[in-house]
Amino acid sequence: MPLAYHIFVCNNQKTEVGSDVAKALKIALKKQGLKNFVTGGKKHQARVQTCNCLDVCKHCKKGPGAALVIYPEGTFYGKVKPADAAELVQEHIGAGRVVERLAL
Ligand code: FES
Repeated sequence: MPLAYHIFVCNNQKTEVGSDVAKALKIALKKQGLKNFVTGGKKHQARVQTCNCLDVCKHCKKGPGAALVIYPEGTFYGKVKPADAAELVQEHIGAGRVVERLAL
């Protein structure tokens, strides 16, 4: 199965926010039916993983949220909180639009 979207969430903060954001993203993908989906007659998948530092630390280590990157576009987001997950999934994955207020 081809991988359409791969989301890496920084998990290098002193708090659990990175893990919480990753969990919220996984829940939002399932709720919005975008974990496994079909476009152009092909099946695709969206996958979320935590990772170590993405080297954009000022946007998460010292702030209240986490940094993440979404491939294949390579779009970075910062200060992401679990409450932002549904919007990120709906806009970026579902509609193909960058969420400008969180974009780095
Ligand atoms: S601590 Fe998150 S990008 Fe470095």
